[in-house]
Amino acid sequence: MIGKRMQDVMNEQIKHETFSAYLYFSMAAYFHSKSLDGMAQWMKAQAQEEFGHALRFFNHINDRGGLIELQALDKPQTEWESPIAAFKAALEHEVFITGKINDLAKLADEENDRAAGIMLQWFVTEQVEEEDSVSTVIDMLELVGDSGHGILMADRELGQRIAGPILPPEEEA
Ligand code: FEO
Repeated sequence: MIGKRMQDVMNEQIKHETFSAYLYFSMAAYFHSKSLDGMAQWMKAQAQEEFGHALRFFNHINDRGGLIELQALDKPQTEWESPIAAFKAALEHEVFITGKINDLAKLADEENDRAAGIMLQWFVTEQVEEEDSVSTVIDMLELVGDSGHGILMADRELGQRIAGPILPPEEEA
């Protein structure tokens, strides 16, 4: 049985992860509006991953007899100054999410909640990957600078990203 505090903070995390998906969909829409369909594809794949993250918390609360309570989402930003500004905003958001995961891991320690601690270990590792993958795109766009040709090449490269399943089959409840 999940504790009330852990249940409440995990419900809050479902909102953060779902908002991440919403934000990345918004970024995808922005990139489509600039005819940068590869970057839009990258963001759509990222958004799909975020739904998977939300589902992991959803399933964890449910599997442990807790109560899932979905919360309202804010409207995400819809415009950015440039492609790199959007990816920098994505990195800033991921750093915020990493902080939330760390807070959850700390709570699991305080409450001696081993099941949550094990589940959260996946997220600690995932956040390292999440920050790294967005930073890599920012590095690429910094190299390219204002070159239209370079931005089109980067767009083509980022469009190669394929969305995996929302959850791997072994994680599906
Ligand atoms: Fe679910 Fe990108 O953090």
